[in-house]
Amino acid sequence: MTEYGKNAPLSYNKYLKVTELIGLQETLSEPTSHDELLFIIIHQTYELWFKQILHEIDATLEWLKEGRAFRVNHSLRAVTAIEKVIVSQIHILESMAQIGFLEFRDQLNPASGFQSMQFRELEFVSGTKDENILESFKNDEFVFEKLTKRFNAPSLADEFWNLLERNNFDISTEDSRVQTIVEILTHPEKYADFFIMQDLLIEHDENIALWRYHHVLMVERMLGMKRGTGGSEGAGYLRTTLAKKFIPELWEARTHLKSEPPATAGG
Ligand code: HEM
Repeated sequence: MTEYGKNAPLSYNKYLKVTELIGLQETLSEPTSHDELLFIIIHQTYELWFKQILHEIDATLEWLKEGRAFRVNHSLRAVTAIEKVIVSQIHILESMAQIGFLEFRDQLNPASGFQSMQFRELEFVSGTKDENILESFKNDEFVFEKLTKRFNAPSLADEFWNLLERNNFDISTEDSRVQTIVEILTHPEKYADFFIMQDLLIEHDENIALWRYHHVLMVERMLGMKRGTGGSEGAGYLRTTLAKKFIPELWEARTHLKSEPPATAGG
């Protein structure tokens, strides 16, 4: 006798493992607090999008090495499109009543978004590497190993500069990297692929900065200045992260850009 449904044709639910997926939300509150399901689902959704963003960025790193600018830009466009969704997604949490959140918040202690492995991977692979953050994962062997690999590997920023160097731009100092971007911004058509690439990279940077800002405002709206479950000062700590930038030279170059006379029809 065959197991029930075993030889059934592929279906939507089977392919996407919907039964397993909707069984992954285990609430801690007893009796179950109404908003805890939303809290779990929103975090799990973030982690799925982080997985997809990392998948695109990992491919992008290879394409940067191979000098395939079209493919790099295509993937970076997917990254920034997903990021637009995850920035706005944070506001769904603002539909939770503050008092409803407090019903189950204490049980989350000492877990915190601070420990999101994939968010840290995203920071490291994009170019912001903080040794203290890496060290904070020391007690989890699997995560620490994964993050150490990311920490030591070339980032998106590194491979972007390497590609420009192979295309005869001087990227040896911070100043020369800024000047390289100024040159690209001055002549968008001449360097069309690199112009689009730096534009997508600064958008990636901006999207994550926007996420940080929307997240801290949501946290303050929810908790005021209460301490975080992860042990930090809460909104006070999060405000210190707002200035983080993956590729500061991209931002700096805008300050040094000067207008050029418009190109004439003949030249
Ligand atoms: C009611 C909802 C939320 C509250 C009250 C909240 C609160 C906080 C607080 C207070 C911190 C600082 C660390 C600590 O001491 O815990 C933090 C960090 C963090 N949270 Fe949230 N959070 C919420 C939702 C989310 C969601 C949906 C995500 C999505 C992944 C997220 C991701 C993060 C990340 C990545 C950090 C580390 C930021 C950094 O260190 O730069 N949080 N959160």
